[in-house]
Amino acid sequence: MNKQLLFVKRPVGAADASTWSLETNPIPEITDGQMLVRQHYVSLDPAMRGWMNEGKSYIEPMELGSVMRSGSVGEVVAVKNLPGFEVGDFVSGGGGVQQYAVTDGKGWFKADPAFAPLPTYLGTLGMTGMTAYFGILEVGKLKEGDVVVVSGAAGAVGSVVGQIAKIKGCTVIGIAGGPEKCKYLIDELGFDHAIDYKNEDVRVRLKETCPKGLDVYFDNVGVPILDYALGRLRRNARIVICGAISQYNNKTAVKGPSNYLSLLVNRATMQGMVVFDWADRYQEAAQVMGGWLATGKLKSREAVYEGIENFPQTFNRLFSGDKTGKLVLKVLED
Ligand SMILES: NC(=O)c1ccc[n+]([C@@H]2O[C@H](COP(=O)([O-])OP(=O)(O)OC[C@H]3O[C@@H](n4cnc5c(N)ncnc54)[C@H](OP(=O)(O)O)[C@@H]3O)[C@@H](O)[C@H]2O)c1
Repeated sequence: MNKQLLFVKRPVGAADASTWSLETNPIPEITDGQMLVRQHYVSLDPAMRGWMNEGKSYIEPMELGSVMRSGSVGEVVAVKNLPGFEVGDFVSGGGGVQQYAVTDGKGWFKADPAFAPLPTYLGTLGMTGMTAYFGILEVGKLKEGDVVVVSGAAGAVGSVVGQIAKIKGCTVIGIAGGPEKCKYLIDELGFDHAIDYKNEDVRVRLKETCPKGLDVYFDNVGVPILDYALGRLRRNARIVICGAISQYNNKTAVKGPSNYLSLLVNRATMQGMVVFDWADRYQEAAQVMGGWLATGKLKSREAVYEGIENFPQTFNRLFSGDKTGKLVLKVLED
């Protein structure tokens, strides 16, 4: 049987248990040109909250009654005339929050559990790693010697952004919630400074940690931290608008930055990004990042929880911050 998490109610504000319904259905049959994937892990991402809203975005909103959309990684257990895939392959793609997924393989890639644990293919070697790589290098136009500030720094995207910037010879300041996460940034990831936005004055700490200002601000969280970063721009600074998690559960309109004239004064740019625009270059990025992982230059951390029935409370960890690294749920049952 196939346990599936269906999206049944559009939330107003934060999602809760009533947003989804767990159902058990027969494992689907495959037809020509398809494969059946027994899923091991699904990815939990802040973007999921946006997909639950009605209205135009960079991707179609989810339909009520559909399987909750998500990235996933698992093992191929049946294939019918689908060149490139065989029974026993490990693969990652958009399988949704369910134990078995049927796919034609479009957008799926192979994962090698001998090289990295499967959850890493949802994080550093998956969508969030790609976001960090193209976001900081292409949109952030990173240069050696830059002063880089990243928010959501102990999360899936932010932790990789900061490490790439260190590899490229930059000074890195990470902003995260709580002393433990800040210690992790400095002791384990090698960041130069960490700011605990839950217990410290971010404006004051930014002044202390980047006295001459910043060249790149990688924004994962939105205001008010975005406004404080805007107040510290150097000439020709780049701001990468990757996400704004502080706004995703809003019941009122999204709040934007008020300090935007700093862009004018400093001849700076602020640019939004969507990782899917680099899909044709994922292979290249995965190779580079795989090399860094193999040599220990890049560290990957996943927060793995268990049980498809625990999806709702696990999802809310993204917003409470009660996890470090990439949030993943094991849906495979022994
Ligand atoms: N544009 C794209 O293509 C793209 C792709 C992937 C992700 N994203 C975006 O990138 C951002 C990070 O995603 P992720 O997958 O790496 O998530 P994540 O950072 O692993 O998890 C979310 C983190 O956000 C922090 N947070 C929650 N509420 C906050 C608030 N009100 N203010 C400040 N921080 C808050 C929490 O950490 P603390 O404990 O530090 O608060 C939490 O751990 C999200 O905004 C996401 O939507 C964009």
